Amino acid sequence: MKKNGFDGDVYILAIESSCDETAAAVVKNGRQVLSNVISSQIALHTLYGGVVPEIASRKHIEKINQVIETALEEAHMALEEMTAVAVTYGPGLVGALLVGVAEAKAIAYGAGKPLVGVHHIEGHVSANFIEHPDLEPPFVCLIVSGGHTHLVVVKDYGKFEILGRTRDDAAGEAFDKVARAVGLGYPGGPKIDKTAKEGSPEAIRFPRAKVEGAPYDFSFSGLKSAVLNYINHANMMGEQICVPDLAASFQAAVVDVLVGHTVDAAKTLGYQKVAMAGGVASNSALRAGMRAACKKAGLDLYYPSPVFCTDNAAMIGAAAYYEYINEARSGWDLNAVPNLRLGER
Ligand code: KG4
Ligand code: ZN
Repeated sequence: MKKNGFDGDVYILAIESSCDETAAAVVKNGRQVLSNVISSQIALHTLYGGVVPEIASRKHIEKINQVIETALEEAHMALEEMTAVAVTYGPGLVGALLVGVAEAKAIAYGAGKPLVGVHHIEGHVSANFIEHPDLEPPFVCLIVSGGHTHLVVVKDYGKFEILGRTRDDAAGEAFDKVARAVGLGYPGGPKIDKTAKEGSPEAIRFPRAKVEGAPYDFSFSGLKSAVLNYINHANMMGEQICVPDLAASFQAAVVDVLVGHTVDAAKTLGYQKVAMAGGVASNSALRAGMRAACKKAGLDLYYPSPVFCTDNAAMIGAAAYYEYINEARSGWDLNAVPNLRLGER
């Protein structure tokens, strides 16, 4: 293999610490995951009903060395055998990001390896390359995580054209807020997903928001308010809420909009391939809805396994590979950028 003048295999040690997972992975040539270690803090943050940034940073510091050692051990490789060290440098919680960035810089500098800073969202998109060796840009990608909701065209590796974004809450945030309102706890997405299986998506008609003049933008705050109003009204009337029906109906409203915008974009703009990325892409109703709509429209659909949808370092290693072979390198002054925008480096 010869890419951009580089011969041989590329092994990337990737580190991810942007939110509440401390993760490290070894990825070969961008698509082969040799190890993928994730130390989740979810149980800890559940006590507080959401991620507490200060606690997240402290836990990352406690765990990161062990997680990296385990990733190398499970890959049966030594640090010296790595081609480069990659790390998420934004967007995310600044304190949490800093732990990974400082660690990656120290390791890369000490071992004399190049450093590649990776955009977290580019990582989520690249998770699709891991299990789909045939998937290559261009394709339309729906990115739905706890902090982001974007509809993009992946023009080339690391090159995005943003078609639409959320005007208010991210899709995952809406799941988390609705789950909290009905007492399902944190993180809300997986809990709504599970509870919705016992309910009817047609039980309550919640709004499907459109943004005037921006066909690919999203808005979830109206839906969230409609759900909260429904709950308040029921409470005032002393009526029992059927949580599974509410969860299924809310989820259906989110899924309808996500699927509708994505398939419209692919058809209108003439793309044959559609992908999904981010924590919410592991939602079973979204996967089923997107499968059905893509089949009807004759589009090819790709999405990662759930473990590669939520935060992980393998996706960072996949993205870093394409950055690396395109000669992207970070300096020793690489810093955490909490508000890093998609398409920026
Ligand atoms: O991508 P991710 O792990 O972290 C961010 O970069 O934000 O996404 C986390 C989000 C959370 O809001 C979580 O509730 C949501 O993804 N999520 C889900 C599911 N699994 C995770 N939402 C809906 N259904 C799921 N099965
Ligand atoms: Zn994420």
